[in-house]
Amino acid sequence: MTPVLSISGLRARLRGPDPSAFVIDGLSLQVNRGEVVALVGESGSGKTMTAYSVLRLLPPAIQLTEGEIRLGGQDVVAMETRRLRDVRGTLASIIFQEPMTSLNPLMTIERQIAEMLLTHGKATRQTAPERVIELLELVRMPDPQTRAKQYPHSLSGGLRQRAMIAMALACEPQILIADEPTTALDVTIQQQVMKLLLDLRDQLGMAILLITHDLGVVAEVADRVAVMYAGRIVEEGPVVELLEAPRHPYTAGLLACLPEGVGDTGRLIEIPGLPPKPGSIPEGCRFAPRCPSATELCTRVTPETRTEGVQAFACHHPRMPA
Ligand SMILES: Nc1ncnc2c1ncn2[C@@H]1O[C@H](COP(=O)(O)OP(=O)(O)OP(=O)(O)O)[C@@H](O)[C@H]1O
Ligand code: SF4
Ligand SMILES: [Mg+2]
Repeated sequence: MTPVLSISGLRARLRGPDPSAFVIDGLSLQVNRGEVVALVGESGSGKTMTAYSVLRLLPPAIQLTEGEIRLGGQDVVAMETRRLRDVRGTLASIIFQEPMTSLNPLMTIERQIAEMLLTHGKATRQTAPERVIELLELVRMPDPQTRAKQYPHSLSGGLRQRAMIAMALACEPQILIADEPTTALDVTIQQQVMKLLLDLRDQLGMAILLITHDLGVVAEVADRVAVMYAGRIVEEGPVVELLEAPRHPYTAGLLACLPEGVGDTGRLIEIPGLPPKPGSIPEGCRFAPRCPSATELCTRVTPETRTEGVQAFACHHPRMPA
């Protein structure tokens, strides 16, 4: 079966004089139909830039230099701008931590969702209002008739996030990319929004690429986890195996930082030291300066990714399976 999203050998760098300033540096990742894949890693590891690359939304300061991205089998890198506009929303949609980055403060909720439907030929002027209400009901917006007529600033953070999800789902994408979608919300609302996303996945069969710092959320909702460090995936595997028996010292470090293992309150706390900045990636394994298991080999030779059992990892001295 063709994966919904397939990224291979992706590299993107900061524009400017330093040709080695990579923010994504050889990243490969697949998301299958109906699957929830969590992308985790410390701040600055390149999670958001990876999400942006998928829809060619990278900021002007960052340039895609190598690699392949396929959405539903279609080559995103080579795609013409017109086709790309079509693909945004229909094949893949993105939701962000702050809904106001996607919602227009000057338009009612109804109008902005309707515009999305009309732009992509998913409704006519006659059918759009009814479809907007259906979508608001789908995301369990309370009193959708009233909310549809309101402007975003009249809605609470949680309701705005629902409106943004409704807009993202308007054209029934095959994959929803959610970049820290609940971080700005309080805990109860966070749980409601995550449950909503999972219900929608079950109902609509769409895949979700979930970017999060919250390993508690990962444990609850993800099927598979990809751990990112300094622009690369360093470990990947099914959620249970990866969280219970991480093979890569970085994954183990992230988990060890949690006060009570992976619980409801589990959030990533930084490992001692800092990740390298783009352009200052060390020779060999990029995690070596912070790794308790590093040897001379690690500082010299970049570890290849290898698969053992269900996990894939890039490390010369992996932790033994439990
Ligand atoms: N608009 C931009 N211009 C220049 N550099 C950027 C820009 N956005 C991000 N970067 C750089 O790209 C790298 C990856 O950033 P990215 O935002 O993808 O990290 P992240 O993993 O999403 O972090 P966080 O968890 O804080 O959201 C960082 O070094 C960051 O400084
Ligand atoms: S390759 Fe070496 S430095 Fe890198 S994570 Fe493995 S043990 Fe640590
Ligand atoms: Mg980010």
